[in-house]
Amino acid sequence: MNERPEILMTPGPTPVPPAVLAAQARPLVYHRGPGYAALLDELVDGVRWLLDTKSDVVVYTASGTGGMEGAVANIVSAGDKVLVVSVGYFGERFKTICERFGCDVTFLGYEWGKTAKAEDVAKALDDDPEIKFVFVQHSETSTGVVNDVEPIAREVKARDKIFILDAISSAGAIDIRMDDWGLDVVIGGSQKALGAPPGISFVAIGKKGWEAHRASTAPRFYFDWTAYKDAADRDETESPWTPAVSIVAAMVEALRMAREDGRQEIFDRHILLGKAVKAGVQALGLDLFGEDPERAHVVTTVRVPEGISDSEVVGLLRSKHAIVTGPGQGPLKGQVFRLGHLGWVEPLDVIRLFGALELVLAELGYTVKFGAAVGAAEEVFNR
Ligand SMILES: Cc1ncc(COP(=O)(O)O)c(C=O)c1O
Repeated sequence: MNERPEILMTPGPTPVPPAVLAAQARPLVYHRGPGYAALLDELVDGVRWLLDTKSDVVVYTASGTGGMEGAVANIVSAGDKVLVVSVGYFGERFKTICERFGCDVTFLGYEWGKTAKAEDVAKALDDDPEIKFVFVQHSETSTGVVNDVEPIAREVKARDKIFILDAISSAGAIDIRMDDWGLDVVIGGSQKALGAPPGISFVAIGKKGWEAHRASTAPRFYFDWTAYKDAADRDETESPWTPAVSIVAAMVEALRMAREDGRQEIFDRHILLGKAVKAGVQALGLDLFGEDPERAHVVTTVRVPEGISDSEVVGLLRSKHAIVTGPGQGPLKGQVFRLGHLGWVEPLDVIRLFGALELVLAELGYTVKFGAAVGAAEEVFNR
């Protein structure tokens, strides 16, 4: 039994820095008092900084999926026409949620591994001018691909539709400019690139998001944006229900650390990690999965070599080297494994990962030139 702490190189949750864990362990503050009000204000301010927006931000005690459901529940009405653009598992989740809320869904589904194209979105909207809402993932964590959101948002805005972005695995890893790009609703989570524990989902809501909310008749209670806004507008109340105070404290600390580093610096760090991981994978003669891998700064998806399964690679990395990675999901099960390099991942984690991966692949019968992946990653970091 390996007693060493596991290193999370999954697509999320991600490693949590000690300062963030320590913040989580601080004595609890009462959520109907100034202590919590200060925490929540700082969290909201940090999210605005992260997403480059002046929008309102609602903070849910929920995982990312709660944020997705909350977004749908607050803007649609049964029978509304929506366009769900899907490049994988989480796009399909948006489709299911919209269907549960009685929406008439047009599904623009791409083969897993492809990225969404602005011209396809424009065509789908022109084909059915009654579509009101467009749902898109930024980073589709099941395949690693990162959609180029800005041109898609431009087409959506030009047609005066509401754009909802799932930025759960991209917020904090990749630049998002909510106001400049005209995004109306953006959803994020605590446990990915920010390096905080799971349990918080945040939703930034622009002017058109609020207009849609006022027109929406979908049933909702816990997730109702109006309840959150009313609470925030009352002095020192801030949250309508008992929030996950300790995780809020942790996320505030994670945001402080990110702000100390700087926006561009945290994005550049993810770009560098992504480049090093891809260089290491290719140095082993393995194939990268997915279109535009040079944009995949969050998760690198790797095809497993002939005769080896994803669960063998992922299983041995974990049992022998205490490194946790992700197997293939959905139709990619058995074919790929996923290396997460988001949040508090350091160059030495990547080097350790490749040292372990070289040993694991050799054990599974793949011909490995020892040191090739480690060396390729080091060269990227050394540049
Ligand atoms: C892009 C994306 N959307 C949604 C989710 C769902 O988030 P959660 O598992 O926190 O509910 C995830 C989580 O992996 C994700 O990566």
